[in-house]
Amino acid sequence: MEKLVIEGGKPLEGEVTVSGAKNSALPILAATLLAEGECRIDNVPDLVDINTMIDLLRMLGAEAERTPAGTLVLRSADSSLVTAPYDLVSKMRASICVLGPLIARRGKARVSMPGGCAIGVRPIDLHLKGLKALGADIKLDKGYVTASADRLRGAEVYLGGPAGSSVTGTANVLMAAALAEGDTVIENAACEPEVADLANFLNAMGARIEGIGSPRLAVRGVETLKGCSYSVIPDRIEAGTLMAAAAITNGDVLVSNAVPEHLGAVIFKMREIGIDVERDPRGGLRVKAPTRFSASDVTTLPYPGFPTDMQAQMTSLLSLAEGISLVSDKIYPDRFMHVPEMIRMGAEIRKDGGSVIIKGVQFLTGAEVMASDLRASAGLVLAGLIARGETEVHRIYHMDRGYEKLEVKLERLGARVRRAEE
Ligand code: EPU
Repeated sequence: MEKLVIEGGKPLEGEVTVSGAKNSALPILAATLLAEGECRIDNVPDLVDINTMIDLLRMLGAEAERTPAGTLVLRSADSSLVTAPYDLVSKMRASICVLGPLIARRGKARVSMPGGCAIGVRPIDLHLKGLKALGADIKLDKGYVTASADRLRGAEVYLGGPAGSSVTGTANVLMAAALAEGDTVIENAACEPEVADLANFLNAMGARIEGIGSPRLAVRGVETLKGCSYSVIPDRIEAGTLMAAAAITNGDVLVSNAVPEHLGAVIFKMREIGIDVERDPRGGLRVKAPTRFSASDVTTLPYPGFPTDMQAQMTSLLSLAEGISLVSDKIYPDRFMHVPEMIRMGAEIRKDGGSVIIKGVQFLTGAEVMASDLRASAGLVLAGLIARGETEVHRIYHMDRGYEKLEVKLERLGARVRRAEE
């Protein structure tokens, strides 16, 4: 196992480029199962989760290779395989994204139920409800979802759940509807840019989807989808994390290919607490931060609300703000595993239900801390970047699931950070 060793206190400066969006690339890779012919996908980040998805696609009969230029080339060779086994799905929940494509293209699917994870209970009822509405016969058997359908039929589907819509639920229904017979309308569809990216990819394959980016997706089913070339959007959460790294170290960083339109809530929250965030004339976002910022209340909500995937990073930032902040996670009320670790670094944070109350402190102190999930690890790395002395972040395999060479990017911006064996 590896850890990150960070010597805190160095303001970050310079320019950094964001990699392709993990949460776009995962469903897009799953969607290649729908295509007849070859898909060439650019800007796919080199991540553990992406490699897990590639392993799963190979297990489902796909051929996959990366060209020297980084393009991922995928083609479905054997279409008789329909099982996504427990060991892969339990490793990565996004494996569930193969469910819709398998039913739509192969008429059958057997996909392990994902279960919960470190950030809480994560049901898939909306995925199943949507696929059933399209005519799939779905059963639960020994921990697996088994589904079958001769040909899916278009339908009206409402995807509202207790916390709003579902990102991968919308993705599954959308992918299935693309090959269904007739028209589908998905109401209360997730509006996240990653869902829009998937819809644009499906259209590039020949799907007919309208309303992209809105909560009402209208899909006219087609008989076949063909291979295509496509480039994944930049990762807005990685961009936000790098912006927060600049801010927490009182630095001055240009996040060169961040897409401002995807980061509205993050930009406005940062500005509200006194961080200077500007669009750069060369593209991207420039972040400059004062030595102390002010407290604020943050509530995570579905897009365009403040993203839950930026909650841990914002919690780190606010642990150093002047005053009292309240951070509530409405998507995952139990996603606060980073908090006890931050407290070990001197943060003053109290958890109350699905919220934390943060009393900003003057400084954090380096300590050994344990990452429990992907974004928690990002929050702890940020805290380490400004803490006095040395911080060791253990179990950084969580970070490697979703950040491409984060420590290399931070080091190029001047951070004193290195990867070491435990
Ligand atoms: N939900 C239901 N029923 C469902 C599905 C979801 O009640 O059938 C609830 C969830 O429990 C949660 C809310 O709806 O309260 C939203 O969950 P959603 O389904 O949108 O999450 P997801 O699709 O499983 C994606 C991202 C997550 C991100 C969430 C929320 C991918 C591969 N994963 O998960 O990313 O936190 O949306 O934005 O796209 C991460 O990258 O660190 C990560 C966890």
